[in-house]
Amino acid sequence: MVSSPKPWNREKEPFAELISAAAIATRVAELGAKITEDYKDKEDVVVIGVLKGSVIFLADLARHIALPIKLEFIGISSYGDATVSSGVVQITQDVSTPIEGKHVIVVEDIVDTGHTVGYLLENLKTRRPASIALASLLHKPERQERDVKIDYLGFTIPNKFVVGYGLDVAQQYRNLPYIGYVTGA
Ligand code: PRP
Repeated sequence: MVSSPKPWNREKEPFAELISAAAIATRVAELGAKITEDYKDKEDVVVIGVLKGSVIFLADLARHIALPIKLEFIGISSYGDATVSSGVVQITQDVSTPIEGKHVIVVEDIVDTGHTVGYLLENLKTRRPASIALASLLHKPERQERDVKIDYLGFTIPNKFVVGYGLDVAQQYRNLPYIGYVTGA
């Protein structure tokens, strides 16, 4: 029998549920099926998770891609103010193999201002992959400053401080099984 995560004690946590674990699971399965269909004739598919926020989404999404993909990770950090994306980003950990000639799918937890993934896609394109696509669980269009095409999008969300399923509050709560938002924020 499959066991689901135990419900958290919501009274202790200052979050309201925005997207349930069940709704996430359904949508992630749909995205995985679409990627499987789109890449079924391609060889050398590399899925790159952007640390750390994408790891939970990536782990679930990858298991819904019924193809022999490779997994890579890339670390990115924004300079300056910790809560506002400045648009100046630094690669803190690079992928372990060249992506030239490969079909790359970058996986993000959220596109907020768009600066992080905008920079990253530009950087990765200079490495001459055969193709490059972006999968993001969340998109917050009200905050977007840089135009970014999301090829595989989970959910469009309002301008709330979201947490869980990979997203953190001061590095905590990435393991919350649903997407919540900080109430009163
Ligand atoms: C978050 C998120 C994206 C980025 C989105 O990363 O994972 O990479 O911010 O913001 P933007 O669209 O405004 O650039 P964060 O720097 O919080 O690191 P984390 O993934 O380790 O939580």
